[in-house]
This record gives sequence, structure tokens and C-alpha cells, in this order.
Amino acid sequence: NNLERLIKLENNLILSETDLRILLDTFTKEDLSYAMNRARKVREKVFGNEVYIRGLIELTSYCVCDCLYCGIRRENKNAERYRLTKEEVLSCCRTGHELGFRTFVIQGGEDPYYSDEVMTEIVSSIRKTYPDCAITLSLGERSKESYKKLYDAGADRYLLRHETADEEHYGKLHPKGEHLRVRMKHLWDLKEIGYQVGTGFMVGSPFQDSSTLVKDLLFLKELNPEMVGIGPFVPHHESVFKDFEHGSLDLTLMLLSIIRLMMPDALIPSTTSLGTIHPRGREFGMEAGANVVMPNLSPTDVRKKYLLYDNKAFTGCEAAESLSLLEKSMDSLGFQVVVHRGDSRRAKIRN
Ligand code: 5AD
Repeated sequence: NNLERLIKLENNLILSETDLRILLDTFTKEDLSYAMNRARKVREKVFGNEVYIRGLIELTSYCVCDCLYCGIRRENKNAERYRLTKEEVLSCCRTGHELGFRTFVIQGGEDPYYSDEVMTEIVSSIRKTYPDCAITLSLGERSKESYKKLYDAGADRYLLRHETADEEHYGKLHPKGEHLRVRMKHLWDLKEIGYQVGTGFMVGSPFQDSSTLVKDLLFLKELNPEMVGIGPFVPHHESVFKDFEHGSLDLTLMLLSIIRLMMPDALIPSTTSLGTIHPRGREFGMEAGANVVMPNLSPTDVRKKYLLYDNKAFTGCEAAESLSLLEKSMDSLGFQVVVHRGDSRRAKIRN
């Protein structure tokens, strides 16, 4: 039964694809609460009660991609577009550093304006100004040479979700003939260069089912990334998928728990999208084994322009400047926000 399946997962025993699929298709409320309790225990063994925070700086809302789920897709003529300058990014870092952030995540659409030259300049300036901080990039697909240059300029980590590990499903989410195998190659390249790598997927994206989710879990196991980001799909009113339902809270929590049981030392954020579909979503995510939160550190006037989906929160606990609210909320769950880079335990020391 499902309890036995969860125990197997926790004991690092191979669970067959069929078993994983049955677990995802048939879990009850009781199964979910058992999974969450075990996941929280496993998280505690590795990280104690510590919560790592990352300041998210949304660099650009321009994007050449047309991902059918995304609010800043190129074809959305009504999206408001902006780009941050190096000075604006550094000013966000300054605010963040004072607040206690020691990781900055520079995230943006795939925007050719940020050439290798422009981007290395930004990265090396942050590196120079904040030698005690980790720099995470999340800029979509670039060339391997580009990843290497940015790594050499001082970037430590790269986030690039695979979105779905099923080739056919990947095609249904990306209309321009993008290929899953290409995305996967990028992830292996990033790893080879030496980045701490993060990947992940949306839960409840259109045309997803338990068999595509099982492929996601198996791919995670194979790539063994340092970080795993998952969150529910949330429709955006200007996207092709505007009429689809958002992903399920319980399924997201079950997957978070499963991933924690499968990958005890992974860095797993409780995402903004989870906080978007339920007022206590982010807290539930922490209780399901997540150990990272990524408050928004972008300049306040651009936050409402970086809308990947509807109702995205950027105030209260989601706002970096309200860190004390987040600390209180984490405290009430028995967690403690810490001030350090929060590297993966597997990370090599760089010099
Ligand atoms: N709902 C939820 N997540 C989304 N993302 C993009 N669009 C949506 C959406 N509509 C996620 C993708 C991407 C990450 C930056 O945001 O998984 O990798």
C-alpha cells in the first residue's frame, strides 16, 4: 500500500515506475500527512530547523520564448516590458545584503540584450562588491561558452527547470519545436562546468498526468541536481493556457514530500506559486520538506510587470523588505531563517 511505498522511498529502496504512479494516483489525506511528516523529519536530519533565504531579482521581462503557460511570453503584446541596469541590480543587492540575504538570484526572460558582455559585467560587479554572497542565475538557455564565462565571472548556481521530462508533453508546452533533449543537455553542461544546478517542473501543467510526473521524478534522480524547484501551474489570463485550472495543492505537497524523501540533501524552495493558490501554501510547503524561500528583492515598481501567472504575490512575506514577517511566520512553524549563503553540502569550495 501507499504507506509501504513511502517507507521504501525514505529507505532509498528502488520504487518501480508502477509503484510511483499508483502512489500519485491514489494517495489519501492520511497518506499525504504521513508523507509530509516523514519529509519534515528527513529535512530536519540534514538542515535542522534552518531556513535558507534567497533574494530574487527579476532582471528583465523581455523574452524571446513563447512558452504557452507563461505570462511574459513573447506573443503577449500586453505584457509590460522592462530591463534593469547593472546599477539597479547592484542597488537591489545592497538592500538585500543589509536585510541579511547572502544569495542573490538573478532571474529573467531569455533576453538577448543581456549578452555575455553585459551579463559578465553584472555578475563580476556583484562578485566584487559582495564577496560573501552566492550568485544564482536563472536566465533560461544560453550557450555552453556563455555559462562558462558567467561561472568564471563569479556565478555559483544556475536554475533551469526542465518543466516536464516527457518529450511529447514538452512539445505541448513549447510551441516552437523546442526539444526536451536540448534542455537536458543544458542541464548536464551546467553541471559539468561546476555550477550547483537547480531544475524542476510545474505541477498540474496542461496535459500532465501521473506517467509524465513519474518521468520527472526519475529524471531528478538521474540528474541529481543540488536544487529542485516545483510549484503548481497557475494560469495567466493572457496566455494560451488561460482556461486551464491551477495545479492541485495536495499533489504539489505530495510531490514535495516525495522529492525530499528521495533527495534528502536537496535545496528545495517553497515557491511563490504555492503561496498563490492557497493563503497558507508557502507554510504547507515548508511542512512538506522544503527548506528555502525566495522573497522578491526586485525594485518595487517592476514587480507587477514580472507576471508569469495571475495573482502572483509580491507583498507581505513575499517581499524581501518585509523579511521580519517571514521570520515570524517561519518561527511559528518551528523554523529559523538564517543569514548565510546556504550552499548545497555537496558544493565544492571555489577559490
Ligand atoms: N504557473 C506556474 N509557474 C510558471 N512558470 C512559468 N509560468 C508559470 C505559470 N503560469 C514557472 C516555470 C519557470 C519558472 C521561472 O516559472 O516553471 O521555469
